[in-house]
Amino acid sequence: HELNFDSCFSFHSKESSTNVSTFLLDTHSPSFSSVFESSIQNLRFNSTNQKLLYIITPYLYEHVQAAIICSKIHRLQVRIRSGGHDYEALSYKADVPFIIIDLVKLNKVKVNRGKRTAWVQSGATLGELYYHVANESRGKLGFTAGVCPTIGVGGHISGGGQGVLMRKFGLSSDNAVDAIVVTADGAVVDRQSMGEDLFWAIRGGGAASFGVVLEWKIKLVPVPPKVTVFTIPRTLEQKATKLVHRWQAIAPKFHKDLFIRVILFVGKGSQGRKTIQANFNALFLGTTDQLVPLMQKSFPELGLKPEDCKEISWIQSIFYINGEDPGQPLELLLDRKHVQKGFFKAKSDFVTKPISEKHLEAIWKVMQDGDTPAIMIWDPYGGQMAEIPEDFTPFPHRAGVLYNIQYFTKWFEGGALAEKKHLEGINRVYNFMAPFVTKNPRAAYINYRDLDIGRNIKGTLEEAKVWGEKYFKRNFERLTKIKGEVDYENFFKSEQNFVPI
Ligand code: FDA
Repeated sequence: HELNFDSCFSFHSKESSTNVSTFLLDTHSPSFSSVFESSIQNLRFNSTNQKLLYIITPYLYEHVQAAIICSKIHRLQVRIRSGGHDYEALSYKADVPFIIIDLVKLNKVKVNRGKRTAWVQSGATLGELYYHVANESRGKLGFTAGVCPTIGVGGHISGGGQGVLMRKFGLSSDNAVDAIVVTADGAVVDRQSMGEDLFWAIRGGGAASFGVVLEWKIKLVPVPPKVTVFTIPRTLEQKATKLVHRWQAIAPKFHKDLFIRVILFVGKGSQGRKTIQANFNALFLGTTDQLVPLMQKSFPELGLKPEDCKEISWIQSIFYINGEDPGQPLELLLDRKHVQKGFFKAKSDFVTKPISEKHLEAIWKVMQDGDTPAIMIWDPYGGQMAEIPEDFTPFPHRAGVLYNIQYFTKWFEGGALAEKKHLEGINRVYNFMAPFVTKNPRAAYINYRDLDIGRNIKGTLEEAKVWGEKYFKRNFERLTKIKGEVDYENFFKSEQNFVPI
């Protein structure tokens, strides 16, 4: 049974070879390419290469165990994919012979309304999770996680998971209370049997270095029957610079129920002239009547009026915050394909000191230069994010962080020229921002994966330190030690995996 991968897999998963052929796909399987492409978000990486030998879409845990055991025997690298949203394709690309374990069929969500918890399988999307939680709690419960509903739960929670509820409830990973994992030796473990070190590491350290997370148990959070959302656009003529400057100081100190992010991009001002537009895009866990006086007290400069606000249910706010019509059928949250795919590149930063008006103006100028502007999304921290200690989970960006920046550029025409233009555009803005963001190291967020900040080539600890300390600061050392304890042979490998010591 160990002569070839297929029969090894059949033997260890205790499945007949006929049955196996329905979910172990090799390069000759008719659905190989369509399954490969199914969840890829970044079209820059939308082509298979000759090193990809098999895609396995397990629906039982034994299938995942067999995939690990046989990959080890056959010396194949494993890439683990839940939602396929990795910015740099680490869940489905490798330059050595490899297989993909695609957890798309493990997507059940089991809500315990009374205990305010849920078991969610890694292959579920955030949209599926949000939909079932809202449905089964009759709109009383939600979950703190990211903005895009097609993201996979598996990768998202294992890299942190930030969204509009984080100022009140922290990250997704802060709310994970148990997990089922297949380890490098093919064992299935839960929190108790894996121990607190491994359970700590997978909550934000990027679980792909440690094992395959099959399921997460998460704490759900209470949400009111109605939330209030608004988007106030302001251009430079409408005092965007002053407003953004003021926002930096107060957004991290707002009431925890209020999350106002700023989306900055090059827009059109009066007479069609180029300007910077700042969209103040918000979610408040309460009604308009409560919000307007709060805004008058803490951010009167924005001039929020009741008619700027919309009261909707929390589940509808998922669409709104993702830039969609909140009135569309909720079943769209179950559709893994409803978000438009494109080519993109993103980078991240953290800011701990407000940027002066003069420097903001200089940044706007750089954004407006050239014809491939990158947008920036500034997400406020503070609130619960500042109360959680830096070593509670591997995610260390806590007290003192005013906001997180995501740089993002997306395009829809393929080809090397378009890519070059867009990469130059985003790098120009990112490089210019260096004096205004964290230094030594210039920190980054692992869920906004960026291989420019460092990657493993030779596989040394020194290489891993370069990117690892940017994502994890002092937690990098503990993560490296845990890697040594649970995967000494370095089976779970990628361009950004911890190197065991
Ligand atoms: P994917 O399957 O590509 O996996 C990502 C990484 O996790 C890979 O290294 C993979 O091997 C590993 N992994 C996946 N499943 C695993 C498992 N079961 N066990 C072990 N390792 C596993 N983030 C955020 O915090 N807030 C946000 O609002 C957004 N918004 C957003 C919008 C869009 C359009 C995109 C493309 C991405 C985001 N993100 C985000 C980033 C997102 O959180 C990040 O890409 C996640 O890692 C995606 O998880 P997936 O399971 O979808 O990715």
